[in-house]
Amino acid sequence: MPIALVILAAGKGTRMKSDLPKVLHPIGQAPMLAHAMQSGAALEPARTVIVAGHGADAVKDAVQQIDETAQVVIQHDQQGTAHAVDQARAALEGFAGDVVVLYGDTPFVRPDTLERMLAARAQNDVVILGFHAADPARYGRLVMAGEHLDRIVEYKDATEEERAISFCNSGLMACDAQTLFDLIAQVGNDNASGEYYLTDVVELARARGLSVTAVACDEAETMGINSRADLAGAEAVFQARARADLLEAGVTMTAPDTVHLAFDTVIGRDSLIEPNVVFGPGVTVESGATIRAFSHLEGCHVSRGAVVGPYARLRPGAELAEDVRVGNFVEIKNAEIAEGAKVNHLSYIGDASIGPGSNIGAGTITCNYDGVMKHRTEIGKGAFIGSNTMLVAPVRVGSGAMTASGSVITRNVEDNALALARAPQQNKPGRARKLFDLLKARKEKQQREAD
Ligand code: UD1
Ligand code: CA
Repeated sequence: MPIALVILAAGKGTRMKSDLPKVLHPIGQAPMLAHAMQSGAALEPARTVIVAGHGADAVKDAVQQIDETAQVVIQHDQQGTAHAVDQARAALEGFAGDVVVLYGDTPFVRPDTLERMLAARAQNDVVILGFHAADPARYGRLVMAGEHLDRIVEYKDATEEERAISFCNSGLMACDAQTLFDLIAQVGNDNASGEYYLTDVVELARARGLSVTAVACDEAETMGINSRADLAGAEAVFQARARADLLEAGVTMTAPDTVHLAFDTVIGRDSLIEPNVVFGPGVTVESGATIRAFSHLEGCHVSRGAVVGPYARLRPGAELAEDVRVGNFVEIKNAEIAEGAKVNHLSYIGDASIGPGSNIGAGTITCNYDGVMKHRTEIGKGAFIGSNTMLVAPVRVGSGAMTASGSVITRNVEDNALALARAPQQNKPGRARKLFDLLKARKEKQQREAD
């Protein structure tokens, strides 16, 4: 049965107190909407429709980046959840299959929970996802009649007795598309909020003799985000899940609570991640690599057996081959470091390639930017770059070549050559002693005058 996802994301999120639409606030460095879309993607939907409203242009741009096949429809004014789903009607014209309704601000629903909803759909016309709330607060209450869901009553409209029910509506729903849009057409707004409630679909379905049931999930999955505090809580939930997944997959973390992961961080088994490491988006670390404490990585690849840090920064386009060493206070950007090469201390390597087995001395800088354009530095195989070498790009240092420490290299260095590019040293016998005497005399004179 083909699936269409309809993801509600038009709400303003007033309590976020933000210019950014709520669903674009990041969790694990991806917009929360991306998490909802990713959960839904597990159902291999034929169609995905996002209902945007507040900040629709920004939402549209973000959706394009996440999944360019997803469609964005606009709900100009927010008249309730049924009205929101109704905005997808035209986009799904002619679609035959099930609609699964998700919320853009409910990012943690697990794919297997959605699968369970679909399994229940095989026996029922409408399936609602519910949860047993520790504190049911203002959630809609699920009024069950045995196995069947009789109706959903919103908190505002509920009697005291109904408010005592702790089985709550997550808002997620699965139903045949045609049936859903027919039922929505019947929904009115005669209620405490004056809104068109999607939840009314349940009672309307029952009145038609359709079968409706509720599937229960863990409350943590239905966590909605309405405030910055909720967002911080959601980040903690995301991090806890992501760390647990990595530990489970065979990654060692000595202090997992201090490691920050992104939505797409990939780390191979038998890797070691020391405390206080931060992963930005787009990082892959292969098996058996070590990321030492206080390193920051984004958009980079670390191969098997490489050791990074402590205090290293790998920026987008850093490609470390096997057994590479990148040490403390080294920044690498858009550069390939070939097998076994070492950049151990206090260096900046940007827009560069370094050949296998080369050694980059402490304090080496690739001067890649002339104020207008970026230029590349190429270093061959088995080269030795002396400490404090400035490599003024574009420039190439050949295989087996050396640069003398403190050199400012502005011209290419051929294979196996030694480049010396610094002022020659002069030693003046006895001059240091004379200079000290002169300076001391000057200081004494100043002190006498001050007294
Ligand atoms: C809704 C449910 C409630 C459930 C709760 C779970 C209804 C009537 N009530 O209540 O039973 O317990 O979710 O969190 O459905 N949205 C739009 N357009 C609108 C209105 C809402 O896109 O016109 C989106 C919001 O951005 C949000 C989602 O729909 O992502 C839920 O809307 P919200 O107003 O938060 O619903 P609740 O009142 O919390
Ligand atoms: Ca809500």
